[in-house]
Amino acid sequence: MNDEPIPLAQPVMGEAEERAVLEVLRSGRLSLGPALPAFEEAFAARLGVAHASAVSSGTAGLHLALRAVGVSEGDEVVTSPFSFVASANAIVYERARPVFADIDPVTLNLDPEAAAAAVTERTTALLPVHIFGYPADLPAFERMGLPIVEDACEALGAVHADGVPVGGRGHPAAFAFYANKQITTGEGGMVTTGDRAVKDRIDSERNQGRALDMGWLDHDRLGFNYRLSDIACALGLAQLERLDGLLADRARVAGWYRDALAGIEGLDLLCEDRGAERRGWFVYVVLLPEDADQRETIAALAARGIQTRPYLPPIHLMSYYRETWGHREGEFPVCEAVGARSVALPFFPRMTEGQVAHVAEVLGEVLARA
Ligand SMILES: Cc1ncc(COP(=O)(O)O)c(C=O)c1O
Repeated sequence: MNDEPIPLAQPVMGEAEERAVLEVLRSGRLSLGPALPAFEEAFAARLGVAHASAVSSGTAGLHLALRAVGVSEGDEVVTSPFSFVASANAIVYERARPVFADIDPVTLNLDPEAAAAAVTERTTALLPVHIFGYPADLPAFERMGLPIVEDACEALGAVHADGVPVGGRGHPAAFAFYANKQITTGEGGMVTTGDRAVKDRIDSERNQGRALDMGWLDHDRLGFNYRLSDIACALGLAQLERLDGLLADRARVAGWYRDALAGIEGLDLLCEDRGAERRGWFVYVVLLPEDADQRETIAALAARGIQTRPYLPPIHLMSYYRETWGHREGEFPVCEAVGARSVALPFFPRMTEGQVAHVAEVLGEVLARA
């Protein structure tokens, strides 16, 4: 195989999506129309949870979910430093403090013991992240007795050990539909919840704080414009209908990678599913051998047409978090060691076995030469 460029991610779009979007365009109901509740109800049903609220992004969902559990100025929220920056940013939006705790070296999710040690009298919520689609240890966090907001932005399709889908436990859980996600609406998100009052508050606050039974332009609380258009909802509904196929395709590609990468010395792969836990495959991340240079490896792969990313750089070491919150190297050793080695490889449902073999071969060559 020659060095044909291989992108990091690529959504699957077909006739069903085209038909669904065209239908909305022709209906003239481009926002707050029937596709919104249809998408929400189908999503909630899929996860076996009572309610779902569509929002403009995963970040918007996290923000409204934190408000809904009562996080406000001066509060502390314990969360993972090994996440996309949005999970910590959403806490800062409410002038609360993200308090990081280190991660579990196997699952790469927030370590419940470290999280418990970080709780103070100002802690008002926990924000575990199901990183790379692997279910966080929710039963352990639930035992801590604090309100929980779940960052499930990477975890559609993941399942907890007790068989409950991630996002189906009743805590507000935010999902994201950016173009690299398991299903996409271009930009978009969804909050699931078991609590009608939480849904009502989120539905109001995504729409400028308009109470659900209030008239046009009547607002009884501060709100935002975090609405998701009917065009996006129709697209999301069409994507949701093919979710099983998309998840199976991703799991198959992950299996090819596992076999193809097995011979590369020092390379570590994401953990296998433990017991009945199921990863909802989102990204294919590898941990480079400890003596490999992350930046040089990524550059060498790019020179061969293979798009990869350092994924994830620790949040607490980003300039804003260093400068505003005083973080330094050495605070969360597991997170920092993993962040220095983790690289996301090209990964999407329609990836071929040949493309996977090519990425594995080039990665092996690049690492052997380093
Ligand atoms: C872990 C995590 N949290 C939050 C988000 C934010 O989602 P969005 O980009 O839709 O705002 C993402 C999306 O990339 C994510 O991966």
